[in-house]
Amino acid sequence: MNKTFYITTPIYYPSGKLHIGNSYTTVLCDTIARYKKLRGYDTWYLTGMDEHGQKIETVAKENNMLPINHVDMIAESTKELWKNLKISYDDFIRTTEPRHESVVEKIFEKLLAQDDIYLGEYEGYYCIPCESFFTETQLDENHTCPDCGRTTEIVKEESYFLRLGKYQERLLQFIEENQDFITPETRKNEVISFIKQGLNDLSVSRTSFEWGVKVPSNNKHVIYVWVDALSNYISALGYNTDHDELFNKYWQKDGVLHVVGKDILRFHAIYWPIMLMALDIDINFKLYAHGWYLTKQGKMSKSMGQVVYPTPLIEKYNLDSVRYFLLKELPYGGDGIFTPEDFIGRINYDLANDFGNLLNRTISMVNKYHNGLVSKPNKTFTEYDIQLKEKISCTVENYKQNMDAIKISNAISEVWSLISRTNKYIDETAPWVLSKDESCDEELMNVMYNLVESLRIIGILLTPILIESSQKLFDQLNIDENLQTFDKISFGELVKTNVINKPVPLFPRLDKEVEEKFVLDLISTRETKVENTEDYIDIEEFKKIKLVVGEIIECKIHPNADKLLVTKIDTKDKVRQIVSGIAKNYTPEQLIGKKVVVVSNLKPVELRGVLSEGMILAGKNKKNLEVLEVTTLKKGDVIS
Ligand code: ME8
Ligand code: MG
Repeated sequence: MNKTFYITTPIYYPSGKLHIGNSYTTVLCDTIARYKKLRGYDTWYLTGMDEHGQKIETVAKENNMLPINHVDMIAESTKELWKNLKISYDDFIRTTEPRHESVVEKIFEKLLAQDDIYLGEYEGYYCIPCESFFTETQLDENHTCPDCGRTTEIVKEESYFLRLGKYQERLLQFIEENQDFITPETRKNEVISFIKQGLNDLSVSRTSFEWGVKVPSNNKHVIYVWVDALSNYISALGYNTDHDELFNKYWQKDGVLHVVGKDILRFHAIYWPIMLMALDIDINFKLYAHGWYLTKQGKMSKSMGQVVYPTPLIEKYNLDSVRYFLLKELPYGGDGIFTPEDFIGRINYDLANDFGNLLNRTISMVNKYHNGLVSKPNKTFTEYDIQLKEKISCTVENYKQNMDAIKISNAISEVWSLISRTNKYIDETAPWVLSKDESCDEELMNVMYNLVESLRIIGILLTPILIESSQKLFDQLNIDENLQTFDKISFGELVKTNVINKPVPLFPRLDKEVEEKFVLDLISTRETKVENTEDYIDIEEFKKIKLVVGEIIECKIHPNADKLLVTKIDTKDKVRQIVSGIAKNYTPEQLIGKKVVVVSNLKPVELRGVLSEGMILAGKNKKNLEVLEVTTLKKGDVIS
């Protein structure tokens, strides 16, 4: 039986459209999954959405949608994005699915029953308008809300807690005994020092919002997002259900890889293994935490500035350009920056010039010198042949090592160093000279064969990365399908082939200035567009305000507040009572008999104990306040 390999992305929050940051993780996992398949593993690739929680509830409300409709919409757009990126996932889990929710309920109740979860009290800084808790470390010295800037208050709330402290030593020992549990090394060290500071029990429920999985035995509580979210990695495999075949098959020691961004390292390196220990499930996974994609302005965020979305880039520059850039530009263990200059540069230099050109030149020469035919020579001619073959086998080895260690950017560099070496081989062997001398015919054929064979191997190495161009390369070189696989990667497997007559460029060269500007506009204008629309309202919104002429028929000072006046206003449909803060500017007598403009559909409220059913429009400057009066219009007339 084949060895199994199970790979997962984080499940993404549907708080907005996904960008190149989330796409990076998903493309990275896709590349690893494809590589493992190529190496003969029975592979399962899971991605999905983390759809519960207060933030989603709030975003949905802002968009005037039910949470479920909002998450349905984002899930669809996410699947569309993964289609555009040709992500080869096997399953897409959504935490709102019954198959997930029922497993989360079981997990929570099991941990509660065995006292790994207990009921206690949560204390934190709470922003009432935002309905959000914050920890001390999330706030500045004034303890104002990081979202809205208003003052927060210390609030206590009943909450369930997961005992982390109990498992602290066992976890440290596990990390000690499994040196490659967390990579890169620096991330592992961060985790160790965090654990050594001592782990506080983790609050795992909330009573302040509704949108989530309820604690079955106490419906006041919603299971807090991380217990809900982390469980997806096993709920999607059918853990603890009648159909747990996938779980039994894929949850194998060293056969599981969770890929996450550095922002959620702690949850995966500490809370998740502790949950597994408490559930008595083997910690079979390895964790890889990558860095972030930034823009020149810093962190990519919708509120702060530029956000890069993959789809328009794919439409304009093709899929492989985007995949190549994402995988190449983020260094192992570090962050990367998306700039239009680098993006266009990589397409022009790496893809069009180095790689595309090598294929182009090779096919042209094979046609020119040998009618498109190459076949395997039976001897070696020059030192250059030997060097090229050595370079190939060494590249394949280094590539494998890097891919296995998830150093994808380094693996790509290895392939490009072979591409350079092969380009150099053309200059060294100078086929245009050999072609002039008939006695060199065999040697010329040998050069052509070596070029094609090197390209075939480059094509195999690029299969998980450049998924469209590697196929185009095989097509143009007319390589048999069974020679496109990893077990045929050694030099010399190709016996003969007949390449196409006219090469088709894989990556056209781009005009640097024009395209850099295009990309720049793409990543910045979207943002300003969104911001502008926030300043405008459309006519439909304006029409929601009902303005009508009303005649003031009674007026007196508010019994409990001397700044307020209480007026009775006849708007023809009815006589309404309105409380206004205008007592400093008008006496009741001055107002009686005036025809004013009234907002008639304002929600009624009590102001200092007196009902107010609307609002009188008034304008003011530093000196004066004046109610808007009409002259010829009559009470009940509509203003629009
Ligand atoms: O954290 N650069 O979801 P999320 C690189 N639902 N990667 C980035 C990135 C960037 N600028 N921005 C985001 C959550 N990512 C939870 C996860 S898992 C049980 C629950 C990637 O939508 C990166 O992988 O905030 C990060 O970890 C993930 O998106 C966060 O996605
Ligand atoms: Mg996040």
